[in-house]
Amino acid sequence: MNQRILNEIQDLKAKRNAVILAHNYQPAGIQDLADFCGDSLGLSVQASKTTADVIVFCGVRFMAETAKILSPDKTVVMPDRWAGCPMADMITAEQLCGLKQKYPDALVVCYVNSTAEVKARSDYCCTSANAVELVNSLPRDKQIIFVPDQHLGKFVEERTGRDLILWPGYCPTHVFIGEDDIRRARQVHPSAVVMAHPECSELVKRLADVLLSTGQMLKFVKDSPATEFIVATEIEIIHPLKKVRPDAEFIPASTRAVCPNMKKTTVEKVLASLESLQYEVTVPEEIRLKAKKSLERMVEILPEK
Ligand code: 13P
Ligand code: SF4
Repeated sequence: MNQRILNEIQDLKAKRNAVILAHNYQPAGIQDLADFCGDSLGLSVQASKTTADVIVFCGVRFMAETAKILSPDKTVVMPDRWAGCPMADMITAEQLCGLKQKYPDALVVCYVNSTAEVKARSDYCCTSANAVELVNSLPRDKQIIFVPDQHLGKFVEERTGRDLILWPGYCPTHVFIGEDDIRRARQVHPSAVVMAHPECSELVKRLADVLLSTGQMLKFVKDSPATEFIVATEIEIIHPLKKVRPDAEFIPASTRAVCPNMKKTTVEKVLASLESLQYEVTVPEEIRLKAKKSLERMVEILPEK
């Protein structure tokens, strides 16, 4: 790591009164220079309460948009303008409107991995950390449309015992992990605990011991007596997991579980983003106000675990 660049980042951060937020899937070096690392829920909470003037969001676009929606007076920048989330782009606002026309009485819950336009047309937003609690808080006699992740949706169906109207979206990184990967890893590490993210396929989730968001994985290993963990999510989570449990061994279920968009952030781009306040993330006010309503509910509902 180039120390000169790191020093320049620290100086500019102070000068601009900026805060650097990074998702748990960001490259290790980016996580290490960030002021706060976390899962989507934790980062949204941080973004809504920071007193900084500038938020440098090291993650993907929907996360930076969420920060802007919750903190409109702050300048929100993304070091790489093309860091998107393919899952978020799997449903458009028009497609969601079509679904709402088909089920006019249903409530709409969207996963935070969605565009601002989709959030604006939803009643509630959730992350993988609080999706179950959020759906459980909704009236039982109401139908619920859940978009865009079918796999998180099926996890919520199983945990709440409710039928949801699902959309066939998915995370390309998580579906790379196959049931054979889990079986193979278990054979080599028979006493390991298998942790899987709810975005994984149903077959993988069935083979896992626990289903957790990235933030919940960090809490789980802290309190667990186990010393070996098979990790079925994006592999960079192993960096913060090792910090929490330096004595434990973390085995990636699949080394192919890499999110290419999360890897677009580099220290050079973080420095450039602070120098030139690029690339600024904006959300049209009409969309922002509508999306804010669904997001506010999300940051209020904290997960049980
Ligand atoms: P969490 O960090 O909220 O578990 O989300 C995973 C993810 O895929 C973010 O894009
Ligand atoms: Fe999107 Fe999957 Fe990457 Fe998360 S890991 S940002 S859901 S593509």
